[in-house]
Amino acid sequence: MSLRLRLVIPLACVLIAYGGFHTYLTARSQREEILTEATASTLRLANTIRRSTRHAMLESRREDVHKMIEEVGAQEGIEHVRILNKQGVIVYSADPSEINQEVDRTEEACNQCHKAEEPLESLDEKSKRAREFPTNRGYRALAAIDVIYNEPSCSSAACHVHPESQNLLGVVDVGVSLEQADERVAQTTRNAVVFGCVSTVFICGLVGLFIYRFVSRPVQRLLECTRRIARGDLNCAIQTTSDDEIGQLARSFTNMTEDLRKARVQLSDWAHRLEEEVENKTRDLTLAQAQIVRSEKLSSIGLLAAGVAHELNSPLMGILTFAQLVAKRMPGDSQEKRDLEVIVTQTDRCATIIRQLLDFSRERPPEKKRQDVHVVLEQAVALVERQALFLNIEIERDFDPDVPPILMDTSQMQQVFLNLLVNAGEAMPDGGRLTIRTRATVSAARAESKARQAAPDQVEIVLRDTGTGIPPENIDKIFDPFFTSKDVGQGTGLGLAVSYGIIEQHGGTLDVESTLGEGAAFTIKLPAGRSGDESGMKREDGK
Ligand SMILES: Nc1ncnc2c1ncn2[C@@H]1O[C@H](COP(=O)(O)OP(=O)(O)O)[C@@H](O)[C@H]1O
Ligand SMILES: [Mg+2]
Repeated sequence: MSLRLRLVIPLACVLIAYGGFHTYLTARSQREEILTEATASTLRLANTIRRSTRHAMLESRREDVHKMIEEVGAQEGIEHVRILNKQGVIVYSADPSEINQEVDRTEEACNQCHKAEEPLESLDEKSKRAREFPTNRGYRALAAIDVIYNEPSCSSAACHVHPESQNLLGVVDVGVSLEQADERVAQTTRNAVVFGCVSTVFICGLVGLFIYRFVSRPVQRLLECTRRIARGDLNCAIQTTSDDEIGQLARSFTNMTEDLRKARVQLSDWAHRLEEEVENKTRDLTLAQAQIVRSEKLSSIGLLAAGVAHELNSPLMGILTFAQLVAKRMPGDSQEKRDLEVIVTQTDRCATIIRQLLDFSRERPPEKKRQDVHVVLEQAVALVERQALFLNIEIERDFDPDVPPILMDTSQMQQVFLNLLVNAGEAMPDGGRLTIRTRATVSAARAESKARQAAPDQVEIVLRDTGTGIPPENIDKIFDPFFTSKDVGQGTGLGLAVSYGIIEQHGGTLDVESTLGEGAAFTIKLPAGRSGDESGMKREDGK
């Protein structure tokens, strides 16, 4: 049951009980008052009749008494008017049919005096002279009697009807209708009931409205809010201006929701950051794992390659030397001399591959010097720029002057740049643009540890071309030794593997990004080194 009903129902009960009781008491007192008033006036009327008929009776003018009684009886509201003698016989009456009839002395009207064996001679008490009785017309009536005593003037009258010894001659009996009075009481009661009902409805309505406005509605809002919070919606503010307990409750509830919302935002923020952190670390881990796998692959292949290259190198040198010797002995334009020259060229090629293999497998620690990256880059570009391969290629430089000099083995780094430049050139057989970009950047590790104000601690070199690009399925293979997409005799598949090894030995990374058909971008990241590393080293370019 709602709070409103719980309050309004008992209130209505109390009001109805109170109203009912009040109405009952009012009606009762009104009824008593009317009865008292009616009794007095009926007694007065009986008395008046007795006095007005006295003379006519003394003078024995029976007709006059009849007339008088008839006239009084004809008045509105008069039920009956009669004069009875001592024997209980109706001597005069407004209703002629009653005359000479004897009334029953045991009746209520006579009972007051005739209770005892010997009837009372006088009846002074007013209440005993009046009586209420129901009429056969459906309403109440009130009757009163007035005793006619034997006065001296009666016993000495001319008629001499009554001896002196007789104390009581008869009674005047008057009955009046209580219909109108009762109707008034009923009307008052009806009015009181209607008023009571209307007031009860009005008061209950008003109290209900108050409860709804100041209790139910705010509580309903609070309830709705708690439901929304339970569903996880924390954007629930209760607008209230009232200063009462419920207003205070609503305000503290809104504050609590606000705090909860802030806490949730903070929590989801933390969760988000944690997620990002985990993602970053997972990526780093995957990269590191890939690097380890690649390094292992490289070193095992490197071992094998070194063994094979070493074994092949001496016989190959023998073939080359003897082929050259025999070729020298042959006449200038003979077929044999031309064939021998082919042998010499091909053996030379084999020697170059073997040299590269040895380079790749050699565990030579780089001889590092602090060097300006731009200078080494320019030297490498100068070596390829004029070759036929780069005829239709536009080389664009986007150098960052703030790039610090870095510790590197110049010849190894030049080899790396050359490999990347040649690959880019070979990827753009119909020409294109090659962009070389350098930047001083902040490494991920430092960005993490020192937040925003970290100073650049690495150098980034990007070589971007507009060539054929690398198919996605090859991206993971291009750093493997002997992986090549080029025709037999065109590529050895060692360029990137060697470059990767060199960069790794410099503590850096080599990455690739490519979209097939749009080109490729190789990014080298090298640590810039601390200022302490520079001690005892001179800059190669003399700047
Ligand atoms: N800039 C580039 N654009 C497109 N593909 C490239 C590029 N650089 C390297 N590649 C791919 O990587 C492979 C391996 O390169 P590399 O190790 O230098 O060997 P090689 O050049 O002898 O084939 C190449 O065959 C080529 O498929
Ligand atoms: Mg190559």
